[in-house]
Amino acid sequence: MQLCSGGFLLLLLASVPPSFLLKDQEEDELPLTTTRPTRVTAAQNVSGCPSKCTCPTEETVDCGGLDLHIFPSNISAGVQHLSLQNNLLQELSYNELSRLARLKTLNLHNNHITSEGLPDEAFESLQLLQYLYLANNKLTVAPQFLPSSLRIVDLAANRLTCIYPFTFGHKPALRSVYMHNNQLNNTGLPFDAFNGSDAVTTMIFSSNRLTYVPQNLPRAIVRLHLQNNRITRVPKGALSSQWRLRELYLQNNNLSSEGLHPSTFSRLKSLEYLDLSNNNLTQVPAGLPANIVILHLGRNRLSVLPPERLSRVRSLQYLLLQGNPLTVAGVHSEAFSHLRSLHTLHLYNNRLDGIPLGLPRRVRSLMLLHNQITRVGLHDFAATYFLAELNLSYNRLYSAHIHRLAFRKLRLLETLDISGNLLTLLPAGLPASLQILNLQKNQLNSLSPELLANLTILKELHLAHNRLRIASISPGTWQELHGLKLLDLSYNELSYVPPDLPESLENLYLQHNRIAVIMAEAFLTTPNIRVISLRSNRLLAANVSEMAFADLKLLEVMDTTGNPEPINISLLQAANWTQTQMGT
Ligand SMILES: *[C@@H]1O[C@H](CO)[C@@H](O)[C@H](O)[C@H]1NC(C)=O
Ligand SMILES: *[C@@H]1O[C@H](CO)[C@@H](O)[C@H](O)[C@H]1NC(C)=O
Ligand SMILES: *[C@@H]1O[C@H](CO)[C@@H](O)[C@H](O)[C@H]1NC(C)=O
Ligand SMILES: *[C@@H]1O[C@H](CO)[C@@H](O)[C@H](O)[C@H]1NC(C)=O
Ligand SMILES: *[C@@H]1O[C@H](CO)[C@@H](O)[C@H](O)[C@H]1NC(C)=O
Ligand SMILES: *[C@@H]1O[C@H](CO)[C@@H](O)[C@H](O)[C@H]1NC(C)=O
Ligand SMILES: *[C@@H]1O[C@H](CO)[C@@H](O)[C@H](O)[C@H]1NC(C)=O
Ligand SMILES: *[C@@H]1O[C@H](CO)[C@@H](O)[C@H](O)[C@H]1NC(C)=O
Ligand SMILES: *[C@@H]1O[C@H](CO)[C@@H](O)[C@H](O)[C@H]1NC(C)=O
Ligand SMILES: *[C@@H]1O[C@H](CO)[C@@H](O)[C@H](O)[C@H]1NC(C)=O
Ligand SMILES: *[C@@H]1O[C@H](CO)[C@@H](O)[C@H](O)[C@H]1NC(C)=O
Repeated sequence: MQLCSGGFLLLLLASVPPSFLLKDQEEDELPLTTTRPTRVTAAQNVSGCPSKCTCPTEETVDCGGLDLHIFPSNISAGVQHLSLQNNLLQELSYNELSRLARLKTLNLHNNHITSEGLPDEAFESLQLLQYLYLANNKLTVAPQFLPSSLRIVDLAANRLTCIYPFTFGHKPALRSVYMHNNQLNNTGLPFDAFNGSDAVTTMIFSSNRLTYVPQNLPRAIVRLHLQNNRITRVPKGALSSQWRLRELYLQNNNLSSEGLHPSTFSRLKSLEYLDLSNNNLTQVPAGLPANIVILHLGRNRLSVLPPERLSRVRSLQYLLLQGNPLTVAGVHSEAFSHLRSLHTLHLYNNRLDGIPLGLPRRVRSLMLLHNQITRVGLHDFAATYFLAELNLSYNRLYSAHIHRLAFRKLRLLETLDISGNLLTLLPAGLPASLQILNLQKNQLNSLSPELLANLTILKELHLAHNRLRIASISPGTWQELHGLKLLDLSYNELSYVPPDLPESLENLYLQHNRIAVIMAEAFLTTPNIRVISLRSNRLLAANVSEMAFADLKLLEVMDTTGNPEPINISLLQAANWTQTQMGT
């Protein structure tokens, strides 16, 4: 899912007309805004403009997207911004390039340039060059020497296996380096690759073949993307002086806990986002710095959360632990106790057999789906007063194992999902704050008013894929649901449209039941209905009363496909159906 910023840049470029507007992520690096309105508006030709190209000013030459095979001749020697992106160039002529000594921007994105076609000395005379874009070419080795004036270098999506000390090194103004989607391993990355380039803040080295985190990274670095490599370890000291680092991506590597030192992350006092997901960690790393806001440890091999590992990370707001083999016994009751800012906790796809003890007190969104939880006890949610969203779907909950007062403290709960369990009854004591209740894919076989009594602001009730029959829905079941807009009763065993549905209802899903008759008064209580699905029931045309629909002025979608006979309803008043699907 993660797109590194350079990848974003490429996507952006692919979809806009060629122009000189190449944005870096850095707020302070918008170098070319002065030449922005080139192509469309100010396309007057200036003398000395190469044929077919556009030259809005003396300094700007745009030859992008012209299928050029050779470097255009006649480019004015005074050009500062030259775009040749989206062409078919295989090589750059030393003579042509070296003439352009005033160049600040050279955009060669998306050509066929090989390392053989890029003479080492090609850039020697370009002593003013600041922005060099060479992504999406066929380079196998990086240029040996790049000018020391450079601010941004983009070499992404080539086939680079190595870079040189003067490729990125010895460039005091260099801010951003994009090297993702290449074939670089640690052997190809010299120890002094960034020597003398102390201003680098962005390094995008994702999707290469690195096996450890490079050492001697620039100290000012803010954004370091190393995801999708083959990294197994972080050498001791590799991140010891990068105290400005805010964003460290190490997901999709092969990091093991043995490959991390207790001090690996401890000096990173600006670190806010640490992604270690999809690695091979068996323990939460030690020494995590205090300012992390988002910590992603999903898809590792964590089976325990000890009390001390997360205790320093007091700014943590999102803790993502899905896809690990955590059990309730492995989660220490103090593991979350210092996490006072934590509002989102993902524990899905683990091996939890119950609700973990000591849940963070301020948690608002708790994802416990796809575990093996068999019961919810009286005290499990007794201290999580701020919980707004609770997802318990796809566990092993029986109605008898949900304590009738289990949810009593959750006065702010808005969304509760217990779908995909083994419930036969609605849970008791649901909080009046609920807006979305999902109980689909259980074994519910009755509904009664007491259990829904206080849910006056409930908007959505999902009851699909249960065993509900008309006779097992007690009279008055819906009467307190004054806010209900969506009711999904599809895939049950209903033989009629349930009576006395709430007036607020707008979407009613009844597909895949056994409904054989629609009586005249079926929708009498629901004048605001917009969508009715009666697909795949047992309706015969003769058993559908046209009167039932006559007053439904807002009805937009009526689906009666998949019944034994086509159902044709003449619409007496509803003149404005946007979609009416009749039986076929
Ligand atoms: C600029 O010159 C080229 C070729 O010389 C021509 O194709 C193009 O139409 C000219 N553009 C304008 C705006 O005159
Ligand atoms: C280059 O410019 C010269 C003089 O301006 C002109 O005579 C020549 O035809 C141009 N060549 C090309 C390839 O456009
Ligand atoms: C690093 O890459 C180079 C060039 O592809 C290759 O020759 C070398 O064997 C690789 N080294 C390791 C340790 O994989
Ligand atoms: C790094 O560069 C500095 C000067 O910029 C130089 O003194 C030093 O020897 C270089 N170190 C390496 C390892 O190249
Ligand atoms: C991950 O690293 C371990 C050594 O720590 C190695 O045995 C294993 O083959 C590596 N797995 C992959 C997929 O690279
Ligand atoms: C995880 O690390 C162990 C050694 O600690 C190794 O045997 C195993 O292959 C690694 N798993 C993967 C998926 O690389
Ligand atoms: C609960 O998680 C399931 C699985 O990801 C998801 O489909 C469902 O939308 C979630 N429930 C709510 C109410 O968001
Ligand atoms: C509904 O709310 C009232 C008052 O808050 C409470 O006494 C009653 O137990 C609640 N009923 C249910 C089913 O939760
Ligand atoms: C459907 O209509 C037929 C013919 O009008 C009638 O015999 C039958 O009883 C009706 N079925 C139901 C379920 O009302
Ligand atoms: C449906 O009813 C309309 C209006 O009564 C009529 O024009 C149309 O032919 C009918 N279609 C079918 C398939 O019976
Ligand atoms: C039909 O719907 C359109 C837009 O949804 C609305 O502007 C128009 O007034 C409606 N006409 C009638 C007769 O309801």
